[in-house]
Amino acid sequence: MDLRNLHWTTIAKVAGLGTGLLIVVGAVFVLSGVYNVAASKDHLRITTWILTLIRERSIATRSFKIEVPALDDESKIRLGASHYEGGCVPCHNRPGEEISPIVSGMLPPPPNLLEIGKHRPPEKIFWIVKHGLKYTGMPAWTNVLRDDEVWALTAFLASLPATAGNYGELAGLSRGQGNAREEPANGRALNVCVRCHEGDGMSTNGDRVPRLAGMPEAYLLRSLQEYAQGARPSGVMEPVADLLSEEAMRELAAHYQALPRTRASGVMEPVADLLSEEAMRELAAHYQALPPVAGTAEPDPEQLRRGEAIARRGIVGQGVPACLSCHSGRQSQQFPVLAGQNAAYIEEQIRLWRRGGRIGTPYGRIMAAVAGALDEGQIEDVAAYLASLPPGRAPDAPVAEAGR
Ligand code: HEC
Ligand code: HEC
Ligand code: HEC
Repeated sequence: MDLRNLHWTTIAKVAGLGTGLLIVVGAVFVLSGVYNVAASKDHLRITTWILTLIRERSIATRSFKIEVPALDDESKIRLGASHYEGGCVPCHNRPGEEISPIVSGMLPPPPNLLEIGKHRPPEKIFWIVKHGLKYTGMPAWTNVLRDDEVWALTAFLASLPATAGNYGELAGLSRGQGNAREEPANGRALNVCVRCHEGDGMSTNGDRVPRLAGMPEAYLLRSLQEYAQGARPSGVMEPVADLLSEEAMRELAAHYQALPRTRASGVMEPVADLLSEEAMRELAAHYQALPPVAGTAEPDPEQLRRGEAIARRGIVGQGVPACLSCHSGRQSQQFPVLAGQNAAYIEEQIRLWRRGGRIGTPYGRIMAAVAGALDEGQIEDVAAYLASLPPGRAPDAPVAEAGR
């Protein structure tokens, strides 16, 4: 046949026939059920190769513009490890431990993440933890507004395998035992909480977890309900609160309100306990006489003064009200106490409001207006001041003071 004589209608006919044939073969392939979707049988090599290529190209393309914040921050690593224990261990197991036999029947099976810090750069880890991986069982983070929490997980995973030996301590596993003299009926739940929140003589597991001791009971209860209903966004607390019954929530709120607010630190308390009054005096004199070392200084007094001005008087020209007119602990039972709260937690909540989180309730909307009026420097100043106050005790009502 002379190809030059081929008419375009003939070409169209052949192409049409070919396409039709492909559709029929494809339909037979799909509808007949020949392709085996059983997880008990591995994919064909070529299928695995294609799927892996697609996954890696997709992760690379979507993560390359992500800017990585500082990750060598102990409070991020601690929060990451403690959430990992509850949210990721069921599939990935603890770093270096074998995956459970049931989970290893998944296809693909969840890898143990001990070496992930060597294989993957932080932006890729972040992207995977935030978005999950389709058709693999790897879930997305429950909340798109909480990049700060996803970065905490990333900080922990990126610190592996160096921190693996310290996993139990970072995840708060040793904090549960023997805690709480007056355990609520729901003692098991409390054992979970204490991995992150305060326990007997222990402060929080890092600065990103809020102190609950001495907070108004009504506020604590409402917070737990809002997490469980998804009205307050947190990929860390939503799954925890979701498992609590209404009764357990009430008990836990009452428990934390009654817990004394102290400067307790899980590291220092046992040490300080062993010192005599005289030894303490001697040590205090010894350290006072040593020359100061850079980086270990107390909070900058200038910063505390700026923060105090905002907390007690607000910023008139900027429409920022005095924080302590609502937060001194003498107002509504629905207002959290901020004196002695952890600075990193205070900062992160204010940034969350600025990103549009935590605005689903009337109480949250009060704070959205306040947070929107602050700039980044002011957020850090006021958080540093509030954190520096003795736990639970704020200065007297600023309104009364202003009139003096
Ligand atoms: C229901 C089980 C499940 C849970 C829960 C889960 N994962 Fe995964 N994860 C998987 C599976 C399955 C894969 C493998 C996906 C693949 O190979 O394509 C995976 C892959 C990953 C990867 C990519 C590993 C790599 O190098 O390719 C990271 C990182 C990861 N998970 C982190 C987490 C973190 C952090 C959590 C907890 C917040 C978590 N996963 C919770 C099942 C799970
Ligand atoms: C894995 C660590 C972790 C565990 C376990 C945990 N929490 Fe939390 N909790 C957090 C973090 C982090 C936040 C701050 C979340 C946010 O940004 O909203 C928080 C917030 C809270 C708040 C809100 C406090 C405030 O000032 O608004 C309450 C109440 C609370 N948790 C109670 C509990 C109780 C009760 C348990 C046990 C049943 C528990 N948490 C277990 C980490 C944890
Ligand atoms: C008019 C009253 C009011 C003023 C003024 C106010 N707040 Fe609040 N604040 C609230 C309420 C109400 C909540 C609880 C919001 C919720 O439950 O979602 C809150 C919550 C917060 C929280 C979250 C605490 C936690 O435990 O989760 C922070 C942090 C905070 N405020 C900081 C500030 C700062 C800083 C200022 C001053 C610049 C300020 N607030 C001024 C009413 C106020």
